[in-house]
Amino acid sequence: MVFITGRNKRSIPDHFDKAYELETELEKKGKTATLEILRSILPPHISCVFIRQTEALGLGHAVLCAKPVIGNEPFAVLLADDLVEDGNRGCTKQLVDLFAEQQSSILAVEPVAHEETDKYGIVSIEPQTDRIGKLQAIVEKPKPEDSPSDLGVIGRYILTPAIFEKLEHIGTGAGGEIQLTDGIAELLNDETVLSYQFEGKRYDCGSKLGYLIANVEHGLLHADLKDDFLDYLKKLVL
Ligand code: G1P
Repeated sequence: MVFITGRNKRSIPDHFDKAYELETELEKKGKTATLEILRSILPPHISCVFIRQTEALGLGHAVLCAKPVIGNEPFAVLLADDLVEDGNRGCTKQLVDLFAEQQSSILAVEPVAHEETDKYGIVSIEPQTDRIGKLQAIVEKPKPEDSPSDLGVIGRYILTPAIFEKLEHIGTGAGGEIQLTDGIAELLNDETVLSYQFEGKRYDCGSKLGYLIANVEHGLLHADLKDDFLDYLKKLVL
């Protein structure tokens, strides 16, 4: 896993690091269940690389920061402020399975409210199946009246390494930032790019309300907490 983070984000590498002191304490006290949860944060076969994006030059630039680590391999991009609840097969897994068949870049998409197209990368597609489309165009945060469709990109992508060369040359776009969307638009000139309407529900944790909703709904799905949490919520709203 390659994390691209910025200033004041040290808690992220700390979260994925081994917590020696805490583990020792829990072992001493015989708290094996808690110890197991702590140890399961990072599966043993995964290693982490942390890269600092020293200037906030945009999502495209953040992805480009990973180039020295990724090299010439396809890779997944996960924007951590989009949380996807999927029930059984994770959204990224859905994209990975489709990539295994198609060997093309894939963007996870969902229909968005027409008046909110200016919050998303928006695609126009040629439908291939119910869920899969072939991208015709992609534009970053168009006004509703200029938007080519109401199909918005969410923060899950599989990209071929050809994207890096595009990101190196596109320059700044919407909001004065180097946009991943613009790199993908360039990639479309050379390669097929697919859209995939994923199975699951996306939570926009980048907005205050979306973050609150994600917390409540996740609380209500939590095996140990859901019953007590539901009782609490019922009392609160009655
Ligand atoms: C980014 C992308 C946008 C995408 C969105 C998904 O925007 O630039 O194309 O639709 O993530 O969450 P941001 O939300 O970071 O402004």
